[in-house]
Amino acid sequence: MLLKIVLLSLICGLTSAEKFRYDGYALYKIIPHNEHHVQFLKDLEYNDKELDFWKSPTRVGEYVSVVAPSEKKADLRKTLEQMNIHNEVMLDSIQEAIDAQVHSRKKRSSRVIRDPVMHFEGYHTLEDINKWFQHLAEQYSNIVTLVSAGISHEGRNITGIKIARNSNRPAFFLEAGQIGADWLSPTVVCYIVDQLIRGDDPETLAASQDYEWHIFPSVNPDGFEFSDNSIRLWNKNRRPQRGNQIGVDLTRNWNSQWGVRGGSFSPAEASFIGIGPFSEPETRGLSRYIESIGHNLAAVLSFRGFGQRLIIPFAHTTEPLDNYNEMIIIGRRAMGSLAVKHDTHYLVGNSATVHDGATGVLVDWAKYRFRPPVAATFLLRDNGGWGHILPVAQVLPSCEETYDAVIAIIREAKFINVL
Ligand SMILES: *[C@@H]1O[C@H](CO)[C@@H](O)[C@H](O)[C@H]1NC(C)=O
Repeated sequence: MLLKIVLLSLICGLTSAEKFRYDGYALYKIIPHNEHHVQFLKDLEYNDKELDFWKSPTRVGEYVSVVAPSEKKADLRKTLEQMNIHNEVMLDSIQEAIDAQVHSRKKRSSRVIRDPVMHFEGYHTLEDINKWFQHLAEQYSNIVTLVSAGISHEGRNITGIKIARNSNRPAFFLEAGQIGADWLSPTVVCYIVDQLIRGDDPETLAASQDYEWHIFPSVNPDGFEFSDNSIRLWNKNRRPQRGNQIGVDLTRNWNSQWGVRGGSFSPAEASFIGIGPFSEPETRGLSRYIESIGHNLAAVLSFRGFGQRLIIPFAHTTEPLDNYNEMIIIGRRAMGSLAVKHDTHYLVGNSATVHDGATGVLVDWAKYRFRPPVAATFLLRDNGGWGHILPVAQVLPSCEETYDAVIAIIREAKFINVL
C-alpha cells in the first residue's frame, strides 16, 4: 500500500513543502461473492503494490475498497469483470474530494484564531486543536489541565486534556488520531471535550462529574501533519525505518499479541507493525501515560476512521474473554443510541468477527494490563464509500452521534453494573 507513492516521492525528491496530488486516482468498492473472489482479492492486494487497499478483503459479502492510479484503472476493471466480481466506482478522482476537505480547514482556521470557540462543521488542523486547548486551559483552569504523553519523533508534544470537576474519580481514557490520514477522529474527540466542558444536559454533567477524563485527540501528530502537508493518505508515523522507509502503523505497534495477525513486517507497507512492540516514541509515550492512570481506569476508548464498527477486545481470538459478553450488550445498546440521530449503523463484535482481526492494538493492551471494565475501539464513519476523505458535511453528524454513543455506553454500563 502506498509503496508507489512513497517511491515516487523519493524519486521526485518530494519535500514536506510539496504536496502529492491524487489527480485521476479512482476509488472502487468491490464485493466478493464467494471464497474464490476473496482469495483472488487477497492475492491482488499482496501482489499489486500500485493498488492501495483502504479496506482489505476479509470475507464473503464484506466490501473491499481500493484506490487505483489512472494508468491502472482500465486494467483493474477488466480483471474484475473477467472474474465476475461486483465492483463500482465510488469516486472517479479522489483529488477533488481531498481539495474539499482541505478547503474547509483553511476557511475555519482563520476563524479559530479570532474566535476561540471551536467549530465542528469541518476538520481541524493540529494548530487549531493546540490553540483551542491553550484557550480551554486558561478559560476553564478550575477543571481543565493540559497533559502530555511525551514527544513524537519529530519533536511535537503529544498533548492531551484532563477534565476533572471532582477529585479522585475513576478515569476515562480516550484517544484518537493514531492514523495520520484519519482527520475525522481528532475532530470527533474534540467535540467530546467541548461537550464535557460546556454541555449542560443532565447526563453530560453527570459524566463530567462522576469521572475524570483524559483525552488525546492527536497521538500521531507527525503523521497528521504530513498528511496535511505532503501525502494526504499517509497512515503511519514519520520515524525512519530500515531500507530508507519511513513510519510504523501505530495501531499495530502495541504490546498485545504483537505481530500475531494482520499488518505487515515490511517497512515499505502502510501497515508496517514496527520492529517490535512499542518500537515507536508515540506508542511508548502514550503507554506510559496510560500506565500512570492504570490503577484508576474505568474505561479505555480508542477512535479512528473508518468502518462503522465497535470493536470489543481481544483481536487474536473469537473467544468471549474477560467481560466480553457484557461489553457486547453495552455496545449493541449504545450503537442503538448512536443510530437515533442520523440513522448510522454500526456492527459490534470482536475484530476477528466484524473487522480484520489485526492484533497489537491499544485497547487490547490496556484491557489486558489494567482490566478497565469498559474497553472498545470505535471505527467511525463511513462504511467504505469515502474512507478517510469523508465529506465535510458528515463531520458534525459524526461528532454528534459518537458523543451520544459515549454517553450511552456510560448509561448502559451502569444499568448492568459494569460501571
Ligand atoms: C508538553 O505539553 C505539556 C502540556 O501543555 C506541557 O506541560 C509540557 O511542558 C510540554 N512539554 C514539552 C517538552 O514541551
